[in-house]
Amino acid sequence: MDLSHVTAPNAEAERARYAELARRSHAVITHYQDVGGAYPASPTFSAYRGFAWLRDGSFTVEGVSRYGDTASANRFHDWAAGVLTRRRSEVDALVAARARGELPPVERMLPTRFTFTGENGSDPWWDFQTDGYGMWLWAAVTHAERHGIDPARWLPGFEVAVDYLVTSWDRPCYDWWEEHVEHRHVSTLAAVRGGLVAVADHLDADRRATALGVAEQIRSLVLAEGVADGHLTKWLGTSEVDGSLPSCVVPFGLVDGTLAEATLSAVAADLDVDGGVHRFTADVFYGGGQWPLLSALLGWNLAARGDTAGALRYLRWIAAQADADGDLPEQVPHHLLHPGSRDEWVARWGPVASPLLWSHGMFLILADELGLLPEGTS
Ligand code: BGC
Repeated sequence: MDLSHVTAPNAEAERARYAELARRSHAVITHYQDVGGAYPASPTFSAYRGFAWLRDGSFTVEGVSRYGDTASANRFHDWAAGVLTRRRSEVDALVAARARGELPPVERMLPTRFTFTGENGSDPWWDFQTDGYGMWLWAAVTHAERHGIDPARWLPGFEVAVDYLVTSWDRPCYDWWEEHVEHRHVSTLAAVRGGLVAVADHLDADRRATALGVAEQIRSLVLAEGVADGHLTKWLGTSEVDGSLPSCVVPFGLVDGTLAEATLSAVAADLDVDGGVHRFTADVFYGGGQWPLLSALLGWNLAARGDTAGALRYLRWIAAQADADGDLPEQVPHHLLHPGSRDEWVARWGPVASPLLWSHGMFLILADELGLLPEGTS
């Protein structure tokens, strides 16, 4: 393990702390994994209890795959592929409606979160979000390639996700934060494109051509309407940024070069406070705190560009947010953008979600990028 970037006088103690948190992260994720394979977003949080999101799950499973737990990761992907395969006729109906020139209402689109048995929830939710379907394609193919698994075992699920995305990618939908259904969100488009590109070579020739055609359209659209002041924007036609935008560089590869650099810089300049990254400047959810998973996303990008010191700064900040048991929350309140809005959320849904499995998955990813997972894993 290369520890040259951990330069603190007590480097060994710091390395041991990260290894311990990585073990804890893996333990939390696998402890709560449902017997059927789903990863609950946050097992104890009132509003999320009983549900698994494709978005959270895709990043969580990437962390588990990097940690080397192929059995847990396979169980998640088997679950997701099964859930999607059972949506075959629903997606066929959506595709047929679009082919007739109809635009199916938002309520008829596939959900963003599922019960552990793959059903829609009965509570109303901000359900039309396409990003998770692209993320799952990316996560499944990445996991299969990493561990030499034949991705064909998930092909029926891939086909449903691809058909759904090519019939819905151009529609406005809710974003990563389940907001603004009226806009087309750049991070959502990047995730959809990233999934289509990742899975393309595993599809039949017609689907492959369609998927790659949509991927190209997404790129052109974002370059034409999703750039301002030299950086990517939160949605098409604004100049604001969002903490999810680094994903358009790593892992989803929508942009590189100067546009990528400027996007990472703009996100850090507007949203990073002492290593804790906010979602967006207008965020009022629990007062708009800092999200460990977004610090990890920015750190992952820096690590991928060779800036290990910059990436380690984020890992250090995240590790400092773990509670006495080593659990990581969804957000922390040290720096709130809108402190007056915190209490109403506590009254509505109780304390902030913790543990949040997505936060733990992102810790594993960043620790792996820095070569700081415990010996014998990955
Ligand atoms: C976040 C979503 C997340 C969900 C479950 C919401 O508050 O905005 O990004 O998928 O919680 O963790």
